[in-house]
Amino acid sequence: MANVQSALEWLESNEDAAFQRLCDWLRIPSVSTDPEFNAETRRAAEWAKDHLEASGLDVRLVETGAPDAPGHPIVLAESPGSGDGPHILFYGHYDVQPPDPIEGWRTGPFDPVIESVEGTSDRKVVARGACDDKGQVASFLEALRAWKEAGAEPAGGVRFTVLLEGEEESGSVNLEHFLETHAQNLSKCDVCVISDTAMLAPGRPAITYGVRGIAYTEVTLHASDQDLHSGSWGGKVPNPISELTKVLSKLWDGDRKIQIPGFYAAVREIEPVERTNWENLGVDAAASLRGIGLGPEANVGEAGYSFLEREWGRPTAEINGIWGGYTGAGAKTVIPTHASAKVSFRLVADQDPDDIRDKFFAWLESNTPEGCRWETTDLHGGPPATVSTDSEMLSTAASAIEKAAGVKPELIKTGGSIPVAGLLKSRLGLETIFMGFGLETDRVHSPNEEFRLSCFSLGARSHIMFIDALRG
Ligand code: BES
Ligand code: ZN
Repeated sequence: MANVQSALEWLESNEDAAFQRLCDWLRIPSVSTDPEFNAETRRAAEWAKDHLEASGLDVRLVETGAPDAPGHPIVLAESPGSGDGPHILFYGHYDVQPPDPIEGWRTGPFDPVIESVEGTSDRKVVARGACDDKGQVASFLEALRAWKEAGAEPAGGVRFTVLLEGEEESGSVNLEHFLETHAQNLSKCDVCVISDTAMLAPGRPAITYGVRGIAYTEVTLHASDQDLHSGSWGGKVPNPISELTKVLSKLWDGDRKIQIPGFYAAVREIEPVERTNWENLGVDAAASLRGIGLGPEANVGEAGYSFLEREWGRPTAEINGIWGGYTGAGAKTVIPTHASAKVSFRLVADQDPDDIRDKFFAWLESNTPEGCRWETTDLHGGPPATVSTDSEMLSTAASAIEKAAGVKPELIKTGGSIPVAGLLKSRLGLETIFMGFGLETDRVHSPNEEFRLSCFSLGARSHIMFIDALRG
C-alpha cells in the first residue's frame, strides 16, 4: 500500500525531471486566441493527454465549437474504476496568452530557460504559460504521477475527473456548451479544484475565495467613407480617433466611478468583516507598485476604496488596446475613416456580463459623436464567482497546503477571472476551491512570464497531501 511518504519521496527525487517535462510543454505555443496557432494548441492538448495516460487515467480529447467555427479541444480524463470516496473535478487550462510584445522578452517566449532567482537558492522557468497555467497544471499532473510511481492506483485511489480547457485565455467561449452536454457526467463530482491563481507572497500560500467576472468588447467608431487630408478636412469633420478617445474618457468621473447608467446596480458591497480581514493581511501597496516600476503616488483608483479592495471587491473598466489611422514610421497627415478600441469590464457579484455589455453599448449609442456611427462586438464574457469559505473540502485543502508549506494558507481574492467557476456553480451547483501557487511577480500575460521551482514543488506537494487526505 503506497503511503504519502513514498509519493513525496518520488516527487523530490524527480523534481528536476518534472520541471524539464514542464519545459517540453512550454515549448508548444498554444496561443488560443490566434488561429495561426491552432495546430500547436492541439499539440499541447495531446501532450497533456499523454501525461495523464502515463499516470493511468482514461483520457480523451473532446472537440468543441461548430464546423464553421471550430474550437480547441478539451482534455477530459477520468480515473478508472469506481468507488464511493470523494470525486474531484480538477480544472486547468493548457492555452496561453499571446506572447506580444515579442521585443520585451529576454529569450524566446516558447524557448523556456531555467534561471536562478536572485538572492535565493531557488530557480525559475521563464516562458509564456510558465505560471498561467501550464506550470500550475503540471504541479497537479506530477502529483498524480507521484502517486502512481509510489505504487498506488492512479490518483492514489481517489476518484478524479480532469478537465483541461484550451480556450480559457480567449474567453472560454465553448465551455458553457461543453458543461451542458457533459452535465450528467460532471455532476457526480463533489467539488472543483483549480490551480490557476496566486499566493499572497513567497512563503505566504493562499486559497482564493473569489474571482472577478469579465465582459470583453471591441468597438469601432466610423466617420467618413475615405481617408482624408488632415489639412483640407481637419477641424471641419469628425476625426474618429479624437471622437473615440473623447467618448471613452467619459467612462469615468473625477472619482474614477464608472459613468454607465446602472453599472453598479447589482454590485454587492464589500462586507465590513472582509475589509478588516484584507486590511489585516498587511499588503504593502507601495512595495507592489515598486515591483512594477511605479512610485506610491501611482496608487490610484475608485475613490473610497483601498488598493486591495479595488482589485478584489470592485468592478473596473479598462481600455486594453486602441488604434486607428497612421501608426507606421515617420509622419503622415491623415484623418482616418475609423478608430477602434478593445474595452473590457471586470465584474463583481452580482453583476452579469451580458447585462453590462448591453448597458455599455447603449451608453455608447447615447454618446454617439455627430456624423459618426458605432460598430460593436461582444468578444466574450464570464461571470464572477465567490466561494464559501467554511466548507469541509476547503478546510481539507487548507490543511493539505499547511502540511506542504509549514504555514496556514491565507484567504484571499483575486482581480483576475476564471470563467469556469461561475459556470460550474450556476449550471451544476458545483463549488470550486482555488488553490494557486503563482506569485504577483510572475509577470503573467506579460513578457518574461516565470514560475519558480519552489512554487511548482509546493503545488505538487500540496496536491499530494490533498489526495492523501481524501483517501480517508
Ligand atoms: N490565471 C488567470 C487568472 C488570474 C490572474 C488569477 C491573476 C490570479 C491572478 C487566468 O488564466 C486569466 O488570465 N484569465 C483571463 C480570463 C479572460 C480572458 C476571460 C483574465 O483574467 O484576463
Ligand atoms: Zn490562467
